[in-house]
Amino acid sequence: MAADLVIKNGWVVTPDATFKGGVAISGEKIVAIGADDSLPQGKEEIDVKGKHILPGLFDGHVHFREPGMTHKEDFATGSTAAVCGGITTVVDMPNTVPPTSDAEQVKVKKELGEAKSLVDFGITGVVVQTNTKDILPMAAAGAIGYKIFFGETIGNLPFPDDGMCMEAFDYIAQSKLPLGIHAENRQIMAYCTNKLKQENKNDARYWEASRPDICEAESVHHALFFAETFGTKLHVFHMSSKQAAYMVRDAKARGLRVTAETGPHYLLREPNDMDKVGSLLKMNPPVRTQDHAEVLWQGLREGFVDTLATDHSPHTLDEKGSDIYGKLTKPAIWDCISGFCGVETGVPLILTEVNKGRLTLNQYVKCASENPAKVWQVYPKKGAIRLGSDGDITVVDMDKEATIDVNKLHSKNKPSPWHGWKVKGMPVLTVVRGHVQMRDGEPCGKAIGKALKPLV
Ligand code: DOR
Ligand code: ZN
Repeated sequence: MAADLVIKNGWVVTPDATFKGGVAISGEKIVAIGADDSLPQGKEEIDVKGKHILPGLFDGHVHFREPGMTHKEDFATGSTAAVCGGITTVVDMPNTVPPTSDAEQVKVKKELGEAKSLVDFGITGVVVQTNTKDILPMAAAGAIGYKIFFGETIGNLPFPDDGMCMEAFDYIAQSKLPLGIHAENRQIMAYCTNKLKQENKNDARYWEASRPDICEAESVHHALFFAETFGTKLHVFHMSSKQAAYMVRDAKARGLRVTAETGPHYLLREPNDMDKVGSLLKMNPPVRTQDHAEVLWQGLREGFVDTLATDHSPHTLDEKGSDIYGKLTKPAIWDCISGFCGVETGVPLILTEVNKGRLTLNQYVKCASENPAKVWQVYPKKGAIRLGSDGDITVVDMDKEATIDVNKLHSKNKPSPWHGWKVKGMPVLTVVRGHVQMRDGEPCGKAIGKALKPLV
């Protein structure tokens, strides 16, 4: 019997091996993997001519802004940018309006996403001082995990105090879902920010100094202690500092279920870049000096940094206080909002580094597909080229070169610090559960995205 879709004549890449051939998909699942002459015929066949066939790439940290902030992004525009960037699955963040803080809001987001999304998506629920009783109901309604914003950031969501954390970490452990943390210590950031303001240091380049490495590291340390005490699965979002990375490494060695994510900007940018691109590179936590980036790269290679994600967080140019090329339109960095687009540029940026030998393509698919699927407990349905896994595939052309043009991004708002970056290695085909959602950089699919259900 013919398969629905056969992708052939490529190099199949898994974390452990690279081999010549392709995959066949039927009924949205992978039904054959191997050399071309071992594959069934397909109703549709795509000859990828020596390109690399990767398990669908998984961006475990995006802000698609629905409900309530659709002037920045929505599920349709965000997921279009995702498929154009080679992404098949995302995890959406809860700092929306209203925030995703109870079972009802989990259902609202699930319906919005399923009506509009081109990719599959996980929904996270936020935990604050007043909603610990909503933790288990959010899981029952379909949340894939939780987030606590220990650091002040967009949405200005409060966080549970230390007493309430005893209850929160305990309930979250009972849910069996992971807790992702935005790890920044508010007292340290307030102290540093006030000091810089008093010294009249208001330029973009001081952003990192307002939230220095100790700000993140102290917060990770704090959360690790609670997680160890209550047996909570902990995931450190957007890890930026070497101290935090070493703490995660040591905690893993002690047997804790702790994982960590980093992103392209922490690996490739530094505070001085803000002299050039100003607030376009303003992010919480901030980008840091090269010594931090080196440890994060080492972590990706050795396994103590688990995942790559982009923290795709679009805003309008007016909110950013910048023009599209980085010229500031507001007098002080404090007045410019934090966050920028990422979901469409993350894959080419890191493939460029793979081409330079910084990671192997096998290590890349581990960090960008298998590990995020494991962190969010949807492996091997997601994150694997295995028989019976979802037919999620990203084909990449490792020789294709381009210059990033932010005006061509598919997000509703396009502020990005990556304009003009030269990349080598591009996604050319994105397939979500057997549906072709992007070909040669152009979106071509429908809103077939479904909310993920954790396999626990
Ligand atoms: O800079 C940031 N922007 N950091 C976050 O944690 C949130 C994000 C946003 O939502 O814009
Ligand atoms: Zn965050």
